[in-house]
Amino acid sequence: AFSLRGRDCLALSPFTPGEIQFLVDRGLEMKQRYRAGEAFRPLAGKTLAMIFDKPSTRTRVSFETGMTQLGGHALHLNRGELQLGRGESIGDTARVLSGYVDAIQIRTFSHETVTELADHASIPVINGLTDLHHPCQALADLLTLKEEKGELSGLRLAYVGDGNNVLHSLLEAAAATGIHLAAAFPEGYEPDPAVVRQARDTALRTGAVLSFTHDPLEAVEGADAVYTDVWASMGQEEEKKKRIRDFEGFQVNARLMSRARSDALFLHCLPAYRGLEVASEVIDGPRSVVFQQAENRLHAQKALLVELLA
Ligand code: CP
Ligand code: NVA
Repeated sequence: AFSLRGRDCLALSPFTPGEIQFLVDRGLEMKQRYRAGEAFRPLAGKTLAMIFDKPSTRTRVSFETGMTQLGGHALHLNRGELQLGRGESIGDTARVLSGYVDAIQIRTFSHETVTELADHASIPVINGLTDLHHPCQALADLLTLKEEKGELSGLRLAYVGDGNNVLHSLLEAAAATGIHLAAAFPEGYEPDPAVVRQARDTALRTGAVLSFTHDPLEAVEGADAVYTDVWASMGQEEEKKKRIRDFEGFQVNARLMSRARSDALFLHCLPAYRGLEVASEVIDGPRSVVFQQAENRLHAQKALLVELLA
């Protein structure tokens, strides 16, 4: 078996393919136990501190509820309510919190803030989204794909949209599990080259195929699942108008979905903007699994919390 005790989860790439598969299976097990009404409280007496520099619905509620279900407790902390908002350093914050709580979940802008927090904390740090990565989302996405398709290896996933945090974590998730990921983004919206290099390295070991194009039709051709995300992420609000122009032709609509397999699923991490990155006919249609993805955040993160803390 695998022991992940004491580890951080800042991105998926530090985990081996075996560890990722293990976390996915543990997540599905958490879901079964929950559905069966079984009380499972391995985190009794444990506290998770959650720092938010950006809004959240899913991440906040799923982590907080997950801790409660596991017998523990979660604290929701906005930067503005902490001394962090008045200039206390991230390093001092990490050291102080390490004396009180058992793990820290943080959602912020710069990924370096999270690595700095982890460097100074003596407890596990979990990335609840940075501008570079969204690992907990990708774990939930793997759970969803495994539930729906049975086998991850060899699955054909298309991503159409911005080369952002969600794509970065999806690339690492696909590379670890042998998923063939074809990503399409407009010129100027490429994923981070260092993340791509890392994912390609992992893909060599698992047989995953990662491909990139500026043509959404090419990416979606024959796909088992099609994924998209917002065009303007949190912190990019002032670029929204320009992005709407630049992403013309990248909307996931029925016409684009018709190039995928007839049973192709539609995925989106949410929140979604109907009429922009996705048409209502797709996200509200029969092949959309977006609410199952959102629900799976709870189970994926419970598995992560149990493995890092128990
Ligand atoms: N998908 C996701 O992370 O949603 P929230 O921003 O609501 O947490
Ligand atoms: N790419 C989006 C994901 C939101 C969950 C953002 O960073 O805002």
